[in-house]
Amino acid sequence: MTPDTRDVLLPLEDVSRRVGLAPLAVRLEELRRWLQDDLVELETAIQATTDLSHAATTREEVGDLALRAARYLLARPGKRIRPLCVLLGARLGGRELTRPTAPGAPLDRGVRDLAIACELVHNATLLHDDVIDEGTERRGAPTARMVFGNSASVLAGDHLLVHALKLVESVGHRRLLSSLLETIHEMVSAEAIQLEQRGRLNPSREVYLSVVQGKTAGLFRWGLVAGGTAGGLDGDTLATLGQAGNALGVAFQLMDDVLDLTGDTATTGKDVLADLREGKLTWPFILASEADPGFLPALEAALSAMADKGDTADGVRAILERVRATGAVEATRRFAEAQAQLARDALARLPESMARGALEAVIDSAVSRRA
Ligand code: IPE
Ligand code: IPE
Ligand code: MG
Ligand code: MG
Repeated sequence: MTPDTRDVLLPLEDVSRRVGLAPLAVRLEELRRWLQDDLVELETAIQATTDLSHAATTREEVGDLALRAARYLLARPGKRIRPLCVLLGARLGGRELTRPTAPGAPLDRGVRDLAIACELVHNATLLHDDVIDEGTERRGAPTARMVFGNSASVLAGDHLLVHALKLVESVGHRRLLSSLLETIHEMVSAEAIQLEQRGRLNPSREVYLSVVQGKTAGLFRWGLVAGGTAGGLDGDTLATLGQAGNALGVAFQLMDDVLDLTGDTATTGKDVLADLREGKLTWPFILASEADPGFLPALEAALSAMADKGDTADGVRAILERVRATGAVEATRRFAEAQAQLARDALARLPESMARGALEAVIDSAVSRRA
C-alpha cells in the first residue's frame, strides 16, 4: 500500500501546530511539500523492508515473530528526522538527484537506500533500547517488547541492523559502510557505558557528553555525511556537514532529556520520567546536582523508596520539583539551543540553497520540539 500524504506528514509539524509554534509548522509544511514525492517513496520503501511475504528466514516461526515486531515499530509514525537529514545532505550538493529537475523520475536509488538504512539503524536501536530501559510506550503505542516480548524485540533490532548494513553495502560507497559500522559500534559502547552508570549517581558532564555523542549524535552525523557523499560533496564540505550533524544530534538528545522531565505521554508518544525512575543522570540532573548539594542524597532516597515500595508519584514529583527549582531544565534548553547554533554556524559556511534552508528548519524543530 502506498502511504498517502497524511502518513508522511512529519509528526514534528503536527505537534508544532498543536502547541502553537505556527511559523515553524509552516516552514516544516513547506519542507514536506517540497520533498513530498521523495518522502512518500521513502516511506513505501521503509515499510517494504519488513514485507513478510519476501522475508527469507531459516527458522520461520522465530523470524516471523521478530519481523512482525520490527514491522510493528516501523509502521508507527516516527519523526523520520534522520532519513530527512540524508535526503537534505544529498540535495546540498546541488546535483540534480531528484525530481524537481526531472519530474516523475524516481528518487536516486543510492540516496534512498542510505536514507532507509539510517532510519533502520535508528529503529533497531529503539527496539534494543526499549528492552534495556524497560520502555512501555513508543510512538503513541505499547512498545514492541510489550506486544511481542523482549526476545523478539532484540531479534527485530538485529534484523534491521543487518538489513541496513546490506543496503549500504549495495550502494557501493565503501567508506560509508565502514563509517556506519563505526557509528553502530559507538552506539553500542555508549549504551553499555550508560547501563554501567545507571543508578550510580555519579554525575559527570564528560561522561554524559561522550555517551550522547555515541548513542545519538553519531547517527545524525553519519546521515548528513552519507547524503552529502551520495550528492557528490567534497571532503571539506563533508567535514562541515559532519560538524553540523554532531551538534544537531547533541541538541536533539538534550531536548529528549528535557521532554522526559517536562513532556507528557500523549504528546511525546513515549514514557515520561523514565530517566528519573532509572536513575539515569541526564544533563538536567547533572546541573541540578551541581547547583543543589542536597539533590543527590534526595534522589538516592527517592530511588531506594521506589525500589522498596514501588513507584511513588509523590517521590517522583518531589525530585522533579527539586530539579526545576535549580533552573536546570531551562539551562538544559539553553545548552541545546547553543548546540543548535553550532549546527547553524557550520551550515552557514555552505552556499545558500533550498536544502540548507530546509536543514535550518530541521535544526529549529529539534530544539523547539515537544515530541
Ligand atoms: C528517540 O529518537 C531516541 C533518541 C535518540 C532521543 P526520536 O525522537 O527521533 O524517535 P522517533 O523516531 O521520532 O520515534
Ligand atoms: C536514546 O536515549 C537511545 C538511543 C539512541 C536508542 P533514550 O533512552 O533517552 O531514548 P528514548 O527516550 O528511550 O527514546
Ligand atoms: Mg530509552
Ligand atoms: Mg530519552
